[in-house]
Amino acid sequence: MAELLITGGAGFIGSHSCLMLLEAGHNLVVLDNFDNSSPESLKRVLELAGPSAADRLQVVEGDIRSAGDLERAFEAAPAGRPITAVVHFAGLKAVGESVREPLRYWDVNLCGSRQLLESMQAHGCRSLVFSSSCTVYGLPEQTPISESAAIQPINPYGHSKAAVEQLLADLAASEAGWRIARLRYFNPVGAHPSGRIGEDPRGIPNNLFPFVSQVAVGRRDCLQVFGGDWPTPDGSGIRDYIHVMDLAEGHQAALDVLLAEPPQLLSLNLGSGQGHSVLEVVRAFEVASGRSVPHTIVERRDGDAASTVADPRLAAKRLGWRTRRCLEEMCRDGWTWQQANPEGYGR
Ligand code: NAD
Ligand code: UFG
Repeated sequence: MAELLITGGAGFIGSHSCLMLLEAGHNLVVLDNFDNSSPESLKRVLELAGPSAADRLQVVEGDIRSAGDLERAFEAAPAGRPITAVVHFAGLKAVGESVREPLRYWDVNLCGSRQLLESMQAHGCRSLVFSSSCTVYGLPEQTPISESAAIQPINPYGHSKAAVEQLLADLAASEAGWRIARLRYFNPVGAHPSGRIGEDPRGIPNNLFPFVSQVAVGRRDCLQVFGGDWPTPDGSGIRDYIHVMDLAEGHQAALDVLLAEPPQLLSLNLGSGQGHSVLEVVRAFEVASGRSVPHTIVERRDGDAASTVADPRLAAKRLGWRTRRCLEEMCRDGWTWQQANPEGYGR
């Protein structure tokens, strides 16, 4: 059992990971400013985790860019049991928005991470799991993508994630004792099978899965498939979708390894190693939901790659972790969430 600080714990990936970490017996302090989430997600996490978790989750409303808010979060841990590790989810993640508002993205993602690291150092806490993204690889020269592929992001969001990765490497090299995992997620989707927590994007979804599920539930009319002429078997883009519960298990595995092994800096892909096309996702979602998902093929979206699929072998080797849930489960659980919460958490 460990005392953990979870930044951004109310968000999509954070909420599922908090549930799993509570179920594993850890004590959590969540620091979140609810910029892109609702406190309701954490209420539901507690409800799912059961009565034994009630006094093991402290929620601090605050900003990772504020030294004072971070101080309150570190102090929220029970007396005599300081925070031993941080899982750092807090950040901004919309590619298009990052192109329009680079200052905000660099501020939250880079300055926020820098402030967090300074507070960790001040508290003698040197274990960190960081939410990075396969976006750091940009348009990959070859797929499956291994961790040794070039880091060459193509948008401000990706630049900010790559910059934090570099900062973490510099920090680990500057001082002994840091245990850091930079986890590069591929495409996280789905929801907890209960349908009580899930992804709740604000406004029109940028990403495929939430868009498809909102079309299926009748909130939107038609999916635009961005490109039907990619060099893929059915002409639509291929991605490596990963069930959010598998991703949460990946964080738990990374924490276990970091806390058990000597200090190190890890960079690991979290993906399944299997690609699915947009049209395959549409069909799988239609089967899972029993609804039709009207769609039309339009022009390619700027900045998209034909296919991005993880080489997941290093994560399997280092963490003893691999994905277990298939596309059908991603669609089934995503649909359970969407159907029970057609307007998300009602923000
Ligand atoms: P999310 O937006 O649902 O969660 C992020 C959380 O951070 C939210 O609860 C938000 O309110 C909080 N937050 C934002 N700015 C903050 C600040 N300044 N101070 C405190 N809290 C703040 O996103 P998510 O999908 O759960 O993603 C979590 C992390 O994983 C992000 O860092 C994201 O960049 C990364 N990531 C996500 C994906 C994806 O497709 N979902 C893929 C790769 C990497
Ligand atoms: N797509 C559509 N229509 C849509 C939305 C998406 O056809 O309305 C297609 C895209 O062209 C792509 C696939 O569905 O082929 C997946 O697109 P997403 O937007 O869901 O995901 P991306 O792979 O483009 O990128 C997202 C984030 C990246 C991050 C990556 C992996 O935007 O920053 O997931 O985590 F790196």
